[in-house]
Amino acid sequence: MFDTLGLICIIWWCMMLFQALHADIQCMGSEAQESPITNVNMNWRKMELSWESSKNFSNYKCTIVDVTDVESEGNSPLCSFPVELYMPRHKGVFFIIEVANTNISKDCRFIPGGMNRSAIENFSCVIYNVSLMNCTWQAGRDAPGDTQYFLYWQNSRDDDETECELYVKDENGRNMGCKFKNVSIVTEKSYFLVNGSSKVSRIQFYDEYIQLYKIEILTPPSKVTANCTKDPAGCIITWQPPFTSHVENKNCFQYEVSIQNKDKPTEGKKDTPVTVNNNTYEFQNYNEKKEYILKIRARGKNCLVNSSWGEWSEPIEFGQGKDYFIFATLFLIALGTISVTLLPYCLFKRYCSFKSLFSPIPQPRDKFNASNDEDTQTEYVHQPKKSCTEEITMVEEMT
Ligand SMILES: *[C@@H]1O[C@H](CO)[C@@H](O)[C@H](O)[C@H]1NC(C)=O
Ligand SMILES: *[C@@H]1O[C@H](CO)[C@@H](O)[C@H](O)[C@H]1NC(C)=O
Ligand SMILES: *[C@@H]1O[C@H](CO)[C@@H](O)[C@H](O)[C@H]1NC(C)=O
Ligand SMILES: *[C@@H]1O[C@H](CO)[C@@H](O)[C@H](O)[C@H]1NC(C)=O
Ligand SMILES: *[C@@H]1O[C@H](CO)[C@@H](O)[C@H](O)[C@H]1NC(C)=O
Ligand SMILES: *[C@@H]1O[C@H](CO)[C@@H](O)[C@H](O)[C@H]1NC(C)=O
Ligand SMILES: *[C@@H]1O[C@H](CO)[C@@H](O)[C@H](O)[C@H]1NC(C)=O
Ligand SMILES: *[C@@H]1O[C@H](CO)[C@@H](O)[C@H](O)[C@H]1NC(C)=O
Ligand SMILES: *[C@@H]1O[C@H](CO)[C@@H](O)[C@H](O)[C@H]1NC(C)=O
Ligand SMILES: *[C@@H]1O[C@H](CO)[C@@H](O)[C@H](O)[C@H]1NC(C)=O
Ligand SMILES: *[C@@H]1O[C@H](CO)[C@@H](O)[C@H](O)[C@H]1NC(C)=O
Repeated sequence: MFDTLGLICIIWWCMMLFQALHADIQCMGSEAQESPITNVNMNWRKMELSWESSKNFSNYKCTIVDVTDVESEGNSPLCSFPVELYMPRHKGVFFIIEVANTNISKDCRFIPGGMNRSAIENFSCVIYNVSLMNCTWQAGRDAPGDTQYFLYWQNSRDDDETECELYVKDENGRNMGCKFKNVSIVTEKSYFLVNGSSKVSRIQFYDEYIQLYKIEILTPPSKVTANCTKDPAGCIITWQPPFTSHVENKNCFQYEVSIQNKDKPTEGKKDTPVTVNNNTYEFQNYNEKKEYILKIRARGKNCLVNSSWGEWSEPIEFGQGKDYFIFATLFLIALGTISVTLLPYCLFKRYCSFKSLFSPIPQPRDKFNASNDEDTQTEYVHQPKKSCTEEITMVEEMT
């Protein structure tokens, strides 16, 4: 009676699993006779393995092969695995139920349903700009052409599973990625599942647990300033830690300070960046005649922060670059002088008629030139005298 009921139950469960869950738990008893353990089921969210038993046993032991062992409480046909196992199941899961002090056991296997190689590949996510997240994937290589994929995720155990709100599609309208807004980085692992549907065949799902802080690209440090003094020559460089949604402790970060000499970009490569552990850096090789380009980036140190370098801050320039400044000033003065002298000439050339250019000018020009020569001559003569008298007066004044 119990056995036939059990058999019916198994058949019913198998049908249920195939039709509704698209996944299957297949079990085999250890002994020749019918196993008292039937109706094995797994609640993945609670990580609870449950079954029915035709006999009352005092204790059970459950094992997820290669992962962990747990024992049931009392004689209840239920094992609760730690939820922190964070075990993706798209590759299948193998577990064993044993009755303590007997030879009775049951080997069960969770086999994800669907066509082989129809599941997505190369799933990856990245968090940037504090709370934005991109996830991408590629269609399974044997997935039928009409396959559509769907992403579901659960930020933490207490959150509900939600579907992606903004899919990134390929040219055929197939979902190939997802954009998330307002993601908060939790200490727990987040669960991602991508399943699919097709009219041709069942599509395998893919799932993964991700610790979100590990996929964060840190924003650049903010408020970067350089405060330089001539004497003693040096600069105090200060900044603020990058913005994050989850780190309060300033000591969680390490910084790389890059100072390049702007005038010699090729030699600048020798200026190896320095790594510092707090928010200030004293730049001692400062030469106020030079100009420098400063940028800083951050990474995690010990805390729950990605230990890869984040984004560089916007480069800022400091130092007066005096040589360059004088050169530029002289160049500008020269340019100004040239344009001031050329401007009237250009205007003159443009607006004067040919008549006025040719007829009246020859005579005045000669006079002008002559007087000009006289002037310069006289000046030339006068000048030494002038300077002499000046020198003399200066000496007189001084004595
Ligand atoms: C198992 O024990 C419960 C009480 O703990 C009892 O009600 C039930 O009839 C027993 N079942 C079998 C199959 O012995
Ligand atoms: C387990 O099976 C072996 C033979 O395979 C037998 O010798 C042994 O007594 C059994 N143990 C129990 C507790 O039934
Ligand atoms: C899928 O692949 C597994 C091994 O990776 C193989 O055992 C199984 O038979 C394959 N299933 C189908 C339907 O081809
Ligand atoms: C996944 O990435 C690997 C390595 O980049 C590549 O060889 C493979 O073809 C990718 N898978 C798909 C389905 O494109
Ligand atoms: C980062 O996000 C903020 C709004 O949250 C936006 O104003 C800013 O432009 C974004 N920065 C980048 C580099 O995307
Ligand atoms: C995220 O996706 C958007 C749009 O697809 C893209 O512009 C941006 O560069 C991506 N960010 C990262 C860090 O991959
Ligand atoms: C972002 O999420 C936080 C909680 O996670 C919520 O308090 C806030 O209102 C959200 N902001 C937006 C713009 O959705
Ligand atoms: C994909 O998974 C979600 C959540 O587990 C489920 O609600 C949905 O029905 C599944 N879709 C397909 C096509 O299997
Ligand atoms: C840090 O984030 C980058 C980008 O997502 C990732 O490639 C890298 O593996 C992460 N590093 C660690 C140590 O988690
Ligand atoms: C720069 O540093 C000097 C002393 O080192 C300080 O007096 C001055 O206030 C600082 N200026 C700024 C803008 O921080
Ligand atoms: C920064 O760290 C150095 C040693 O690593 C220490 O001498 C200095 O006082 C620290 N500065 C601040 C502002 O904490």
